[in-house]
Amino acid sequence: IDELLADGVAGKRVFVRADLNVPLDGTTITDDGRIRAVLPTVKALAEAGARVVVASHLGRPKGAPDPAFSLAPAATRIGELLDTDVRFATDTVGDSAKATVAALTDGQVAVIENLRFNAGETAKDDAERGVFADQLAALADVYVGDGFGAVHRRHASVFDLPARLPHYAGYLIANEVGVLKKLTDDVRRPYAVVLGGAKVSDKLGVIDHLLEKADRILIGGGMAYTFLKAQGHEVGISLLQEDQIPAVLGYLKRAEEKGVEFVLPVDVLVSTEFPDLKTKAPAHPTTVAADAIPADQEGLDIGPETRKLYAAKLADAATVFWNGPMGVFEHPDYAEGTKAVAQALLDSSAFTVVGGGDSAAAVRILGFDENAFGHISTGGGASLEYLEGKTLPGLAALEN
Ligand code: 3PG
Repeated sequence: IDELLADGVAGKRVFVRADLNVPLDGTTITDDGRIRAVLPTVKALAEAGARVVVASHLGRPKGAPDPAFSLAPAATRIGELLDTDVRFATDTVGDSAKATVAALTDGQVAVIENLRFNAGETAKDDAERGVFADQLAALADVYVGDGFGAVHRRHASVFDLPARLPHYAGYLIANEVGVLKKLTDDVRRPYAVVLGGAKVSDKLGVIDHLLEKADRILIGGGMAYTFLKAQGHEVGISLLQEDQIPAVLGYLKRAEEKGVEFVLPVDVLVSTEFPDLKTKAPAHPTTVAADAIPADQEGLDIGPETRKLYAAKLADAATVFWNGPMGVFEHPDYAEGTKAVAQALLDSSAFTVVGGGDSAAAVRILGFDENAFGHISTGGGASLEYLEGKTLPGLAALEN
């Protein structure tokens, strides 16, 4: 983008593909981290006199307008944060978008409606995506890719559109890639990885890849129960992906052969019921050993001994990557595990990267100062796929 700014963008219509996929409670944004992350690019372009057209997806609407997924709250938030009047187009490539963009003056910013309201955005068919990319291209003179969280998607605005316009990487993408490179090339050791979240199946690729890179892998969250079951323990009614047990056993064996330490919970907080995340009514969990989960109980967070164990395993690390919460952190009775990992990262002198929508949001929602962490990635799937060594369509398109 510095190259673009040096060449001059005054009067040019610049399409910024952002990732404004923020968590919403109705129309209230509960974590605006992703919006803040793209502002340096939007601000620099606006200050240089560009007519900035910001676009993004939000959630997973079904290829048609759906008010529950409108980007209007995000547009308002950008306006508040930039302290400027941000225009909002109520469609993506229709009359509203065309008129809104045509009315922009130099230095003004507009947000167009959720790209996924058009089926062409996510279409598998190249031609269908191409039609939508052509329509988007007509709205702009230049493309800036800065939606790091979406670069793993082969979508029209991420992959096809940059091929149709002069294209540049924004500050956020450049920064994210610079940081993630430090986790793949010349890693400082010991390198510890903490993985949580609900499903093992989402993490298979990254575990496979990290077995070649990491010294220690700590497992928490819902996925831990599939590991415990694979080790022969009963897990009650905890989350379980029975079909992943063979893969998990394979990883445990490979880790042993390679001298990679796999660390699993030694105790967990359990309850017969999933907590009420709306009322946050007290859940009264009990703590049990990880190999003694009662048949009628569900594990919902790592326990106090595990918190201590994980803190100790992170204390002497030189590099830490963390993706995924340790429990149902949205409820105060099950937030301690995730808090303990966040605190351990803050206490260590390691280069720390928090990746993933959920763990990044957890850090902010639990009240930690996000600036105290080495880097909080805006990418969930994107950062994982980067670490898996995959070619990411949105990055490949910018490099071409
Ligand atoms: C994310 O939240 O990880 C990105 O915004 C991508 O969203 P998606 O998984 O719906 O494509």
